Amino acid sequence: MKRIFVMHGPNLNLLGKREPHIYGNATLDQINLNLRKIADDANARVSIVQSNHEGILIDAIQDENQKGIDFMIINAGAYTHTSIALRDTLSAISIPFIEVHLSNLSKRESFRNHSYLSDIAVGLIMGLGVDGYEMALRYALKN
Ligand code: DQA
Repeated sequence: MKRIFVMHGPNLNLLGKREPHIYGNATLDQINLNLRKIADDANARVSIVQSNHEGILIDAIQDENQKGIDFMIINAGAYTHTSIALRDTLSAISIPFIEVHLSNLSKRESFRNHSYLSDIAVGLIMGLGVDGYEMALRYALKN
């Protein structure tokens, strides 16, 4: 059974209410429910964590890695642009991951153009809203 870990970073708990013109109307619960459904249909196990705290996200990745995971889907929110610590965790465990962003970072403020994660990710999906998570999961299930 394939084991996939989905990580949502800071402020993604506000999806649905947070700048819907940028992030869309779907809530995090709706996104997670859809991912769980797809994983169930594929007889895969998905575990999902959201936190607004960098250390909690790092602990969660390390814990999931201890338990055993095959693939990760990572939307680190603003930590994408700031967190060497998160990058170090992802490098240390060397589990393949896709970096996902709801919005197209290239169309936004210049500080969002740098990601500490992209060059160690398998790939990057951005600007496709909630569909990006689904695409990432379908890739993870196939590979
Ligand atoms: C985001 C983009 C980040 O720049 C931002 O800080 C977020 C969400 C996205 O999904 O588009 O919190 O990761």
